[in-house]
Amino acid sequence: MLEAIAVSKQFNEKKAVDTVSLRVAPGDIYCLLGANGAGKTTLINLFLNFHPPTTGELRINGKDVVRHAQEVKRDLAYIPEQVMLYGVLSGLENLAYFAELGTGERQPLERLLGLLHDVGLAQDAALHRVSTYSKGMRQKVGIAIAVAKNAKALLLDEPTSGLDPKAANEFSLLLRRAAGEGCAVLTTTHDLFHAKQTASRIGIMRQGRLVAEMAAADVSHGELETLYLDYMSA
Ligand SMILES: Nc1ncnc2c1ncn2[C@@H]1O[C@H](COP(=O)(O)OP(=O)(O)OP(=O)(O)O)[C@@H](O)[C@H]1O
Ligand SMILES: [Mg+2]
Repeated sequence: MLEAIAVSKQFNEKKAVDTVSLRVAPGDIYCLLGANGAGKTTLINLFLNFHPPTTGELRINGKDVVRHAQEVKRDLAYIPEQVMLYGVLSGLENLAYFAELGTGERQPLERLLGLLHDVGLAQDAALHRVSTYSKGMRQKVGIAIAVAKNAKALLLDEPTSGLDPKAANEFSLLLRRAAGEGCAVLTTTHDLFHAKQTASRIGIMRQGRLVAEMAAADVSHGELETLYLDYMSA
């Protein structure tokens, strides 16, 4: 469970996030939309405790992310737009390294290969250096790391930007699978189509505020686009 309770973040004169409350239940994929500078990344970074909120509270599985920073880290996985991996290591070696870092335990080779297989990374690719990988392949390793950790909350910032439609679709399926296993997923995107395809709930941010929330099933692609553009021009 991810919860933001009346959260604001002020940078000097700029209120990047303004009194936002939202909740992502286990099994939900919540997708944040909004123009450049709307505050989406700032909100994700608040959950990650990269910076503290100016006011309000953020909780992961009921624990305050600032006061219980260490415990919360164990429940959490993060996939940024560019997944940070070691280029000189293979996908398998990166997974082994980060999975051990995340769980405190060395993972058996069979499990690591199984995880890479499950995210759709072919075994010969898994043995190649990550510096040769496409962006989609790197994102897959990122998801495998999150799954290896049994993360209960998954935070993603524009994970599909720059992915081709097939890779983005594969990524959506992986997110759905993680959610299906009880993970609470909060992601950002500029891609309305992807949001509609992937999310169970959609939120629209504008100038730091969460101005609309809806169940993805309640809007068509066309309605979502109209609604989004209406909010942006309001
Ligand atoms: N560390 C910082 N110091 C000062 N201002 C910041 C900082 N981080 C973000 N901001 C400002 O906060 C506002 C929200 O930025 P944020 O990156 O959260 O937007 P975003 O919705 O993620 O945009 P994009 O779609 O372009 O990624 C912007 O005006 C930005 O300039
Ligand atoms: Mg951003």
